[in-house]
Amino acid sequence: MFALFYEPALALMTIAKNGLFRQILLAGLCLIYVSVADAAGDAANGKALYNTTNGAPLACASGACHGTNPLAGMNKILRGANAGAVIMNAIRSNKGSMGFLTSYISAAQADDIGAYIANPSAANTVSQTIGMISFLPTSLAVGDTTTVSATATSGLAVSFSSTTQSVCTVSGSTVTGITPGTCTIAADQAGNASYNAATQVTQNIDVSAATPPTCVLSASSTLVSAGSTSILTASCSPAATSYLWVGGTCAGTSGASCTVTPSATTLYTVAGVNSAGSGAVAAVTVTVAPPGSILVIEFYNTNLDNYFITADSGEAAAIDGGSAGPGWIRTGNAFLSGGSTSVCRFYGSQSPGPNSHFYTVDPAECQGLKDQQIPAGDPRKLTVKSWNFESLDFVSTPATNQTCPTGTTPVYRAYNNGFARGVDSNHRITSSLTAIQEVVNRGWSNEGVVMCAPN
Ligand code: HEM
Repeated sequence: MFALFYEPALALMTIAKNGLFRQILLAGLCLIYVSVADAAGDAANGKALYNTTNGAPLACASGACHGTNPLAGMNKILRGANAGAVIMNAIRSNKGSMGFLTSYISAAQADDIGAYIANPSAANTVSQTIGMISFLPTSLAVGDTTTVSATATSGLAVSFSSTTQSVCTVSGSTVTGITPGTCTIAADQAGNASYNAATQVTQNIDVSAATPPTCVLSASSTLVSAGSTSILTASCSPAATSYLWVGGTCAGTSGASCTVTPSATTLYTVAGVNSAGSGAVAAVTVTVAPPGSILVIEFYNTNLDNYFITADSGEAAAIDGGSAGPGWIRTGNAFLSGGSTSVCRFYGSQSPGPNSHFYTVDPAECQGLKDQQIPAGDPRKLTVKSWNFESLDFVSTPATNQTCPTGTTPVYRAYNNGFARGVDSNHRITSSLTAIQEVVNRGWSNEGVVMCAPN
């Protein structure tokens, strides 16, 4: 910036030392225009100085000064636009009694004030910076996502983009790995009326090969009678793109599930494979019960969070058909009926409850519950919860001190703590320890081995 100002007194003194211009001095009259380069000032600092130099507003609002808005041009203030030298001169020459500012305003500060006077709105926009870009999780595989974040000193939202579109893409703050390589994420903040745009920052994250799927192979029934079907389903995470089956009629099939009707106990395996060709193998054995054996099949009600078992294949088929109401599904668990002792089956009622079944192989417990049963026709039947004997559903062998005789399989029982929770009591009775653990993880109590089924 250049400013032109008229400075006769100073000019005369300077020229007096120079013989070449002596004649001009003698003439005693001269007009010399001096061109001064003013440094580009910081308008924001200039604004602060203009308004409160030395703790007091120097550009006071009084008509004797310059008012609060320089653009009003009061008392020639606009002459100081981008012209710190003019301001300094005005002060030095005590224009409008401004001389008292001499000790407060330096030349550099005058430049700042000049920048503000020239463009007061420039002082409104201040610079901002964007901090470190971070990722959560900190690693990224093909097909996976991570969340990118960064903050700007302005507090304004930062936007993200990928400068390596073939390796990774960005949607909002979600980064998706496309191919293995280096993914570069750029963060920008465009600024607003108060802030200038931030300088872009970038950060790299390696995109690794796709994570191999981990699969679990489940069977709608792991124990079936000969000629019965079981549906095998592979669940893989991350999702598999193809499935390679081994075992029985599943061998060579490629779907996520396979329906089998094994005539003998069969081990089925499936490898869930991703697009990169890596995968994991999961297996399940479907056991075929000896001819003539009776299966105790487990059901679960997804609405009631209740379990139920039945050895009556006709009842099981009816439940499949919805006879017991909605929500009932087979868990896939079953054990064999067989042993020394009949198992008593009790049911409460839909109302007053409990809307649940209970089973015991202990004759004394069975008799005790029968004794407490409220007889049909008793008015208490409508108000008091009680168990009603239903049938001798299947047979099993009692455990002795939680131990089963050789050649038998322990059957465990877990309790839903219904009494304490204020819900109908329900028990899960199963030979699968995994199944017991699943409900124990949800707050049920493991009551241990309650009977012993044939192997
Ligand atoms: C940071 C504070 C100030 C700045 C930047 C400033 C700047 C200026 C400038 C650039 C001029 C014009 C100079 C010229 O004509 O070449 C001026 C003139 C003037 N200033 Fe200030 N000024 C300041 C503070 C004040 C204050 C506090 C007063 C009141 C006491 C004041 C009163 C005046 C007056 C009355 C004139 C007009 C003089 C004339 O008619 O020639 N100024 N000032």
